[in-house]
Amino acid sequence: MDPQQKKVALRAINYGLHVLTSADGDELSAAGVNWVSQMSFEPPLVAVGVKADSHTNEVIGRSGSFAVNVLSDDQLDIGKAFFRSTTVEGDTLNGHRFEPGPSTGSPLLVELPYWFEARVTDTVTRGDHTVYVAEVVDAGVRDESATPLLLRSTGMNYGG
Ligand SMILES: Cc1cc2nc3c(=O)[nH]c(=O)nc-3n(C[C@H](O)[C@H](O)[C@H](O)COP(=O)(O)O)c2cc1C
Repeated sequence: MDPQQKKVALRAINYGLHVLTSADGDELSAAGVNWVSQMSFEPPLVAVGVKADSHTNEVIGRSGSFAVNVLSDDQLDIGKAFFRSTTVEGDTLNGHRFEPGPSTGSPLLVELPYWFEARVTDTVTRGDHTVYVAEVVDAGVRDESATPLLLRSTGMNYGG
């Protein structure tokens, strides 16, 4: 395999940009992620790829659940706040207000237009990211008019 062709071909996959969160009791975690996709209608399954050595991977491993908060196309600045380690101050995560998700307690960022919570059903621990397959157990829409942010439009890459 030609490594350059592999990189370019894999980067041709289209992604959104999201904030993945989880809570294990009082311990909260959040990370900006693009490796998220739906995988089944019934039951409604999603899969996420989570950096194996990240704090978020540790917390999801213990809690067995997470939330995906979908950024809108004018919220890249909020997304950028989650490409670093998590700081909790009062009811804010990295400076952005959250509330606990009704089903799993995973933090929901109140500024973001779409969210869903999921419980892990299967875990693949191969390579440098852990793949969590999870069943969606709750979801909400705060602003149906919002257009989700596309990774490609940010000029950033995570893949290849
Ligand atoms: C554009 C971009 C996309 C990213 N996508 C992912 C991803 O899909 N999965 C992941 O685990 N980390 C991804 N990251 C890295 C995480 O944002 C970063 O590892 C995380 O903030 C680490 O925080 P933590 O150790 O507190 O969990 C991405 C980073 C960037 C800049």
